[in-house]
Amino acid sequence: MADSPYPELKKSHVPERVGRPWTDYKPPPSAPVWAVISGFGSFHVLAAALELGVFDALADRGATPGIPPTVTAEELAEELEASSPHLEALLDSLAVLGLLERVGGRYGLNDTAARYLTTDGAASMASLVPVAPGPLGNWSRLADTIRAGQPAEPIDDDPADFYRPLVEGTFTTMLRAATRADFQVRYSALESPRVLDLGAGGAPWAIAVLKACPGATAVINDLDGVIDVAQRTTAEYGVADRCEFRPGDFHTIEIESEGYDIVVLGHVCRTEGPSGAQQLIARAVDALRPEGRLLLADYFVAPEPQWSPHSVLMGMTMMASTINGFGITAAQVAEWLAETGFEAIRLIEPIGHQYAYVATKSRRPPGGSL
Ligand SMILES: C[S@@+](CC[C@H](N)C(=O)[O-])C[C@H]1O[C@@H](n2cnc3c(N)ncnc32)[C@H](O)[C@@H]1O
Repeated sequence: MADSPYPELKKSHVPERVGRPWTDYKPPPSAPVWAVISGFGSFHVLAAALELGVFDALADRGATPGIPPTVTAEELAEELEASSPHLEALLDSLAVLGLLERVGGRYGLNDTAARYLTTDGAASMASLVPVAPGPLGNWSRLADTIRAGQPAEPIDDDPADFYRPLVEGTFTTMLRAATRADFQVRYSALESPRVLDLGAGGAPWAIAVLKACPGATAVINDLDGVIDVAQRTTAEYGVADRCEFRPGDFHTIEIESEGYDIVVLGHVCRTEGPSGAQQLIARAVDALRPEGRLLLADYFVAPEPQWSPHSVLMGMTMMASTINGFGITAAQVAEWLAETGFEAIRLIEPIGHQYAYVATKSRRPPGGSL
């Protein structure tokens, strides 16, 4: 008996035919499978639209969320020097994905596009989208990676090449998270904190503290080839004169003992594997003054992984493209922090989906007494 191709009650299984209503079986919809299959195409639709400059072109033409769309595919194709029917198919796909407004064959920006997909959007992810999945070739060899226990082309072979565009792309989001974190961390109440930002990228966390505390100073670390991103961003935010840039591997650079009030490990632990992450936490505790605080931001996997799909898939992205990277669980990190001599361990979510542990270095050595 042929199966129904549709997610509806099979005509061949209705009681009149089979006569056993209570054992009848309605097949599950194939929608979850299709969602995954079209995920590949959806990513490329968005990446192509960004590469072509679709969202910026609409913004330049005054397309604003909330006003009726005015631009036709033909007009946009002429401006972007693209084939009109092909561009129209792309625009319709974007509308279907909820990334553009389409009314009566005219296109405009919706709230999502204006905020996240235009270059000047308030929380622009335009430069993040193409680099966020990591090297695309590693995804098509994922089964090999799982067999071999290592990706064919790990980003560890040329980290600067990968991280440079990534940290440029994540900077705005991370700066928002770091700035909003002050509501829960109150670093702005500190007089002249000294900050150590390891694997700082564009140094969003250090910049947030330096902006909030005019007396603050920072040591900013990243790899050669990436640290100049922080040199540029700190200059743009007018805080570079209070920064010392310390390029090199965060596992081996020199760090003063008990020299800092705040140490930041922002999205560096999940690429390190358990032993690398624990080494970084140990370096942080050594660098902090008693009662100094560690800010450890990451995408933490929940006790039941299904509760934190974004973190699980971020962990998978790490596994697909790095030698040691995996998702790290919130419980694992809390345990490492407690074992290393941190107390008052809190998990905060300064903005949606951005989490950070805040932990205070104990005044007592671990296992010791005052
Ligand atoms: C995901 S980015 C996070 C950047 C920034 N901390 C943030 O929260 O936005 C990871 C950063 O760690 C840096 N990194 C990776 N391995 C490193 C190492 N061994 N030593 C120093 N920096 C490293 C990368 O260059 C990159 O800038």
